[in-house]
Amino acid sequence: MTTRFLAPATFALLAMFPVFLAAGQSDPLAPTGRWSAYTGGRAPTPPMGWSSWNAFATDIDEDKILGSAQALVDSGLARKGYRYVNIDDGWWLQRRTSDGQLVIRSTRFPSTVREGGLPSFRPFTDRLHAMGLKAGIYSDLGRNTCSQAYSPDESDLPKGSVEEREVGLYGHIEQDISLFFSEWGFDFIKVDGCGVRAYAANSEKVISGAYREFKPLLDMESVARSDIPAVQSLFRQIDAALIRNNPDGDFVLSLCIWGAGNVRAWGKDFGNISRTSDDINPTWGRLLTNFDSAARRALYAHPGSWNDPDMLFIGKGDFAAGHLTEARSHLSMWAMINAPLMIGMDLRTAPQALLDVFGNEEVIALNQDPAGHQAVVAFDSGEVQIFVKTLSTGDKAVAIFNRSAAALEVDLTAAHLKFRDDRDVALVDLWNGRKQSFRKQAKLQLEGHQTLVFKARGARVLADGLYLSEQPGNVNPAVDGVVWPAPDPTIHRSAFGWQGTRSSGERPIYAGWGGAQPDSAPYGEALRISGRKFETGIGVLANSRLEVRNQGYRRFTATVGVNDSARDDRHAATFVVYGDGKVLATSRPLKWGDEGQRMSVDVSGVKIIELVARAAIDDPASLPVSWAEAALVSGSAAAQTSQYFDHGMTSS
Ligand code: GLA
Repeated sequence: MTTRFLAPATFALLAMFPVFLAAGQSDPLAPTGRWSAYTGGRAPTPPMGWSSWNAFATDIDEDKILGSAQALVDSGLARKGYRYVNIDDGWWLQRRTSDGQLVIRSTRFPSTVREGGLPSFRPFTDRLHAMGLKAGIYSDLGRNTCSQAYSPDESDLPKGSVEEREVGLYGHIEQDISLFFSEWGFDFIKVDGCGVRAYAANSEKVISGAYREFKPLLDMESVARSDIPAVQSLFRQIDAALIRNNPDGDFVLSLCIWGAGNVRAWGKDFGNISRTSDDINPTWGRLLTNFDSAARRALYAHPGSWNDPDMLFIGKGDFAAGHLTEARSHLSMWAMINAPLMIGMDLRTAPQALLDVFGNEEVIALNQDPAGHQAVVAFDSGEVQIFVKTLSTGDKAVAIFNRSAAALEVDLTAAHLKFRDDRDVALVDLWNGRKQSFRKQAKLQLEGHQTLVFKARGARVLADGLYLSEQPGNVNPAVDGVVWPAPDPTIHRSAFGWQGTRSSGERPIYAGWGGAQPDSAPYGEALRISGRKFETGIGVLANSRLEVRNQGYRRFTATVGVNDSARDDRHAATFVVYGDGKVLATSRPLKWGDEGQRMSVDVSGVKIIELVARAAIDDPASLPVSWAEAALVSGSAAAQTSQYFDHGMTSS
């Protein structure tokens, strides 16, 4: 039976609670009173920096890396936040078999050479630290790496016997993490997953005897054939070793399993950044694919753990200096969705025009906004999208993203921003500084592939609070009801990158949509209860539990019900609101077609609110439910404060 390997195998059973909950199993919908998304390490805002991979692949050396590091400092980009300098794949020579110690390719990293000992990266990280930068390193969950599996040429790969070429973390977690962090002084680790995916008994490199078999724990094409608990357990061990070796907690753990194994649902619980798709390449089409893999996952990103649609490819191909429109769009959209901003070009030769793109402080500030709310889709279509991000000041950022090559005219409305349409909305264009204001709606012109990004100020519809969909960084789908990840009906779906046309093409390689959504029901459908449409709210499957960080609000309000998109018209869902683990309110059992029930709950003094929708069913996907117009408000008329409007626009 395939569920043996399904990630949420236990969860599949538990989700059937209360009918099928076996004795001794705990109820995942029971309130915990805590925030369970990952908050370890140091990523209160998305990490920013530079990585060697997109520029150099495995052909790395010290000059290239330190040269780009120096350029980060000299160009002022380091001062603007680009601080991590990350070595990606290609730094190993081998693992010494006598004691398992890793050996660096010191011919490429001369500063690592030591008299009478193995090479050490300590002088290299000291140098970066002295420049005010942070240092990152790369490893793999398995025994072997991605380049060992996929590199067409051996020259940059580890050398020696089969065993000596086993440079990944598997079986050496404590030893290697201690080496990287305690001895060598790194601050960041990217943990790739090819070692637990690409070395099956029937793979060419195993058959040829080049590498030892590793029974795959991840299968890009099959969630059911992925042993998700085993992968999670490896990440937990790595995390524990990181904590042990970084007493000050100054580390970043980057998960790189490309969206496989439904990681888009659980990466947020295991590390600081988590890849949502296979590798980006410098083409517009691939940018869209990678962007889409993270763009509708706003509720799965919070301060401490972010969606990672892969590094920036500005500087090459469709994003080279001759394509500034596309380069700006790339940075803008990565900034809006709180993606890590990792430069991937050789900065030693970067033209000023591209340094200026990376260095747009207003756009960087959106990405680094301390509230940590990933932008939410406010208008969706194949050609153009509008994304809105709530900033810590209460201002909004809005990006109008022209995915198409054609010039377009679009209307931006106050409603997109959840601003009142009887008041002025002030816009500042973050690429050219131009200001304008509008009431109700503005007409905007976009060139092909252009993104307009504005900081926007207006009178919020909800003056004395925030809708939950305006604050996704405070909402964590601890249990999102997804038992069987199903594909999302969007045009651009993640697939292996462009490999030529000899195969049957880019089939989607993982599923995992159907999760909790801001302002939409799961699978992108409308929030609608008993025929009444809602523009705002949280849509999620039944048998789900959302954790909400309450930042001092006094009242939680929502209209709850089964969403009209449900397939199941027989079973009822019950909605329960908890405050710090205690029941505050319970709805009637509500079925498909029942009018929504209004809930208004006193949450004064509550730190963690939990929103549980429970149904006695075994297929929560058949019962999407809505927390329509879910909001936290201060709850008194006097509190219609202007606190969100007191701040001056920081843009010029
Ligand atoms: C994988 C990762 C890339 C890069 C390479 C290195 O493909 O997804 O980002 O690290 O491995 O081999």
